[in-house]
Amino acid sequence: METKITKLLNIKHPIIQGGMHYVGFADLAAAVSNAGGLGIITALTQGTPEKLEKEIIKCKTLTNKPFGVNLTFLPSLSPPDYAGLVDVIVGQGISVVETAGNNPQKWLPKLQENNVKVIHKCTSVRHALKAQDIGCNAVSVDGFECGGHPGEDDIPNFILLPRAADELAIPFVASGGMADGRSLVAALALGAEGINLGTRFIATQEAPVHDNVKKALLAATELDTKLVMRPLRNTERVLSNAAAGRLLEKEAELGENIKFEDIMSEVAGVYPKVMQEGQVDEGVWSCGMVAGLINDLPTVQGLIDKIMQQAELIIAGRLKTTS
Ligand SMILES: Cc1cc2nc3c(=O)[nH]c(=O)nc-3n(C[C@H](O)[C@H](O)[C@H](O)COP(=O)(O)O)c2cc1C
Repeated sequence: METKITKLLNIKHPIIQGGMHYVGFADLAAAVSNAGGLGIITALTQGTPEKLEKEIIKCKTLTNKPFGVNLTFLPSLSPPDYAGLVDVIVGQGISVVETAGNNPQKWLPKLQENNVKVIHKCTSVRHALKAQDIGCNAVSVDGFECGGHPGEDDIPNFILLPRAADELAIPFVASGGMADGRSLVAALALGAEGINLGTRFIATQEAPVHDNVKKALLAATELDTKLVMRPLRNTERVLSNAAAGRLLEKEAELGENIKFEDIMSEVAGVYPKVMQEGQVDEGVWSCGMVAGLINDLPTVQGLIDKIMQQAELIIAGRLKTTS
């Protein structure tokens, strides 16, 4: 299946694995790229330019296909060495960067002068238009269903994607709630050129996370996510667990006076404990509503092949005979 995104990124299938903290390591990124999609290493999990460089070099030993790096720009008192991370990305000849969070404008000239394509992840049409204005090559449109940070507008993909299609000239992929071949066909119908998956890729054989995390995703339904940190205007969709319950109680108690310091125990430094040690109730961790569509633990190749087969069957079968 050829789309503007497969051509832009030089990949076989229009399927991207979104950056994921403590999940997007070389092993997963390489598995996705080897299966014909675009795997992405998450730079901030590595933290320093030196560690990112090592992870990129490891990924190159696992695949000879293109893979990308996610750069998430968060407000921080002690920001990571973004300039150093960008230098490594360019120096290692990475061809795609997924940016997220704050406006990536400052880094575009250096990346694009070095032939790096930039896909900015956005949760609203206005942010997608801004990304287009500043010269991003594509955007990833992340609907309210998504795992992670859905923004504050709460617009689900059935509205957000066609709105993006009506406004944007650059290609975009649909992100949030994408699980299978049905998702891909629907995303294409709504104007996207491909799909970006987060949560679904965690429930795969190759995802480098503790089995307890995969078991929690298999057990979860579409009803098992919560929105936390809304009063801080930093909303995150997380798996509903004991820590999410504690955090929401604090939010109810403290109301508008809540500060980040009040919720440190539920959010700070929890990813290694959850993803690597399997302590899934230790803190809050991103998870999409798509958990309700996850019932198996396939290999990455098996998952991507099945998505493509199902999509092609729907297009050539049911859609053809009903039109
Ligand atoms: C555990 C987890 C960690 C994530 N970490 C990041 C991150 O560090 N940076 C980022 O841009 N997006 C992050 N995301 C968001 C994903 O890249 C993707 O946009 C989102 O998961 C799509 O929604 P879905 O989970 O419904 O597929 C994360 C998502 C999950 C589930």
